[in-house]
Amino acid sequence: MFDVVVFASGRGSNLAALLEAQRRGAPFAIRALLADKPGAAALDIARNAGVPAMAFSPRDFPDRAAFDRAMFGRAAEFKPNLIVLAGYMRVIDTAVIDSWRGKVVNIHPSLLPKYPGLHTHERALAAADAEHGSSVHFVTAELDGGPVVAQAHLTIEPGDTPESLAARLLPLEHRLIVASVELIACGRVALDRSGVRLDGKPLRRPLRLGDAGLAPG
Ligand code: GRF
Repeated sequence: MFDVVVFASGRGSNLAALLEAQRRGAPFAIRALLADKPGAAALDIARNAGVPAMAFSPRDFPDRAAFDRAMFGRAAEFKPNLIVLAGYMRVIDTAVIDSWRGKVVNIHPSLLPKYPGLHTHERALAAADAEHGSSVHFVTAELDGGPVVAQAHLTIEPGDTPESLAARLLPLEHRLIVASVELIACGRVALDRSGVRLDGKPLRRPLRLGDAGLAPG
């Protein structure tokens, strides 16, 4: 089985979507949930599904690198094929993330390379963008800057607010993260030195989420 460890900081709805996909027979198994906040709702979602869940508090560590070494070290005990950052709100130490290259993906609520970092819905509205979306990307040392695997697109409607965009985007994000992890678990998508490959060929543009799942972008 393709083993996955999920990192989360909060609500955990993307974790719940992955767990639901697993119950329906997706080709991966969530082996553990690690949080950087002891109160994260994601911890309860994992425990209720019988998945080991544990929190580490950054305050208990001298610096970012020590914290990240502890988190990734604990994750490594589950021998994951992939770590999924699902609403994990921390920048990861460069040396730690470099040693996991190709083994960590993140879901970010913007059409990367637009709007890395925070407040993506506000920024898309302020720029009067016609569309918004979410991206799943391999994680590198550059914040929200790693190679993108797949995106979900959302048309911005007149009257949209950050809240309405977030609400419409979330169900698309759930489908996007599940479909992306499935492709990686099947061995169809991987990161090599030159970038993302799909079925062994360079992926020139991110895959795009449609009604029937992920398709060429
Ligand atoms: C999602 O919008 C994701 O794109 C962002 O944080 C949110 C996580 O939500 N990185 P949840 O904790 O999975 O419900």
